[in-house]
Amino acid sequence: MMSNVNLEKFSSRFLPNYLERYSAVNVKRISDCTLAGLPTRLRMEITLIAAMSEDGFIARDGRIPWHLPRDIQHFREYCAGKTLLIGRKTFEQMNGWFQDHFPIVVTRRAGYAADPGRAVATLDGAVELARGRGVDELVVLGGGEIFAATAGMADRLVLTTVQTKLGGGTPFPVQEFSGWKEICAQIFPPDNTHAFGFTIQHLSNPNPNHHHHAT
Ligand SMILES: NC(=O)c1ccc[n+]([C@@H]2O[C@H](COP(=O)([O-])OP(=O)(O)OC[C@H]3O[C@@H](n4cnc5c(N)ncnc54)[C@H](OP(=O)(O)O)[C@@H]3O)[C@@H](O)[C@H]2O)c1
Repeated sequence: MMSNVNLEKFSSRFLPNYLERYSAVNVKRISDCTLAGLPTRLRMEITLIAAMSEDGFIARDGRIPWHLPRDIQHFREYCAGKTLLIGRKTFEQMNGWFQDHFPIVVTRRAGYAADPGRAVATLDGAVELARGRGVDELVVLGGGEIFAATAGMADRLVLTTVQTKLGGGTPFPVQEFSGWKEICAQIFPPDNTHAFGFTIQHLSNPNPNHHHHAT
């Protein structure tokens, strides 16, 4: 357990002030974002960030079948400057996207060169590499295999739920997050640049010390 002094120092770095820059039409419990769910220990937090359909899929036929500029903006802002954990397939799909990020790419392929970033052979190796960089948050970008493998060690989930059903595709392990605490949520209705409405929720693990181990 941290002292109050440490918690204050830590939380000033952690607070997601980017949320205040949104002009979401309907913002509920936004003030909770800045107070509840603060980490009470000084260690690296693991956050999963994902966008899924109402029926729990993050992609169909190898691609994400929606274009939501406000969600992309949120995703960019959340990830800016951060150390990222990403599966080799998603990393290759996002080629050219990484700028001020440090992507840690997991792959079983020997000698894989991640540029930018670093390739590692195991999830534990990825977590150790991130810890060694001294960061207080590691952000997991997916895809499906990586979300499934890291859900059990996550502290936070930043989840966009898109108001559409895909009926199949790459699943998101939603069941792993039942019982998690919603810290805040924003609702974005459809408009002329967003074919689907969506919500962005921040959820926190009520038992963050009970992590499973990565494989
Ligand atoms: N909507 C969203 O939020 C979102 C986010 C990200 C991605 N996506 C979508 O998700 C899809 C990709 O997901 P995916 O599940 O097919 O692939 P993925 O998770 O991006 O990458 C899978 C690859 O990661 C490596 N890997 C997985 N587990 C590993 C482990 N335990 N140790 C070492 N390496 C490991 C393997 O690479 P090697 O084959 O090189 O060994 C594996 O083939 C795409 O369609 C993408 O568009 C959606």
